Formats: sequence, structure tokens, C-alpha cells
Amino acid sequence: MTTFTINGQKVSVTVEDDTPLLWVIRDTLGLTGTKYGCGIAECGACTVHLDGAAVRSCATPVSAAEGTDITTIEGLSTDASHPVQRAWVIEQVPQCGYCQSGMIMAVSALLKDTPVPSDEDVDASITNICRCGTYPRIRRAIHTAAQMSPGEDT
Ligand code: FES
Ligand code: FES
Repeated sequence: MTTFTINGQKVSVTVEDDTPLLWVIRDTLGLTGTKYGCGIAECGACTVHLDGAAVRSCATPVSAAEGTDITTIEGLSTDASHPVQRAWVIEQVPQCGYCQSGMIMAVSALLKDTPVPSDEDVDASITNICRCGTYPRIRRAIHTAAQMSPGEDT
């Protein structure tokens, strides 16, 4: 059994220790906002926060979540009021949308550590893949979010 907190709620799951955390989030807990893309830690569609850090949950065994505090896209805010979510709306970032919850989780983790990131910071930190090519709007939205509430905690 693995016990952790997810979006403020303590849960215990009985699965094999090497089960990917993504499987547990989506299939066991029914939180389907976190997406499966590549399954090999390349695309970032499955990004969640583990104790505040962005991790790719497809390549994270559930055993690594024991005792941690996890946030998924569903828990980033209760009403889409997080600055990154608001900036995403302002800049109309998504196209198909599939990669976007992972993008938003990666960006919110970046802004927590680096409240006003440079383009170089963005390039170094946001390595998620968007098959629709929304990268220019993502970059604009990151800077919009940074101006909106520099330093705001996620
Ligand atoms: S699904 Fe996890 S990085 Fe692609
Ligand atoms: S918006 Fe379609 S994959 Fe990114």
C-alpha cells in the first residue's frame, strides 16, 4: 500500500510498487486531467507536482510518492484562478489541448522557483512537447503570468 496526499486529500492505494504514478492518478483515482503521451518521460503530458517539483508521472513509480504531497491540474486551483491558468486564457494558448495540463503544471513549478523567468530560463525548464506547436503562445503566457503576480505561490 502507498499513502500520499493528492490535491489536499490523503489517499492510500493498493497497487504494485512499480506501477507508474500516472496510472494510479488516472485509473485508480480517476483524475483524468493528467494525460498520457509517450510513457517514456519525453513529452511532459503527464507532469504533476510532487512536493512542489514538476515530475513526469509516467516514469515515476508510485512507491516514490509514499508520504509526499502531489498536486495535479485538478488541484492547481479550485476555480481556474491560478495566474498560469488565467494567463493561458488571456493568451488563448491551447490548440487541441492535449499537452496543456502538463504544460501548465510545468510552468507553474517554474514560476514558483523563478517568478520572473527569462527566455533562457523558459528554454531550459519547459521541455514539454506540443504537437500543435503552441510554443510562441506558451512563451507569451509565461511572461504574462510572471507579470500578473510575480512570486505568487503555487
Ligand atoms: S507521458 Fe510522461 S513524459 Fe510523456
Ligand atoms: S495543444 Fe495540441 S498538443 Fe499541444
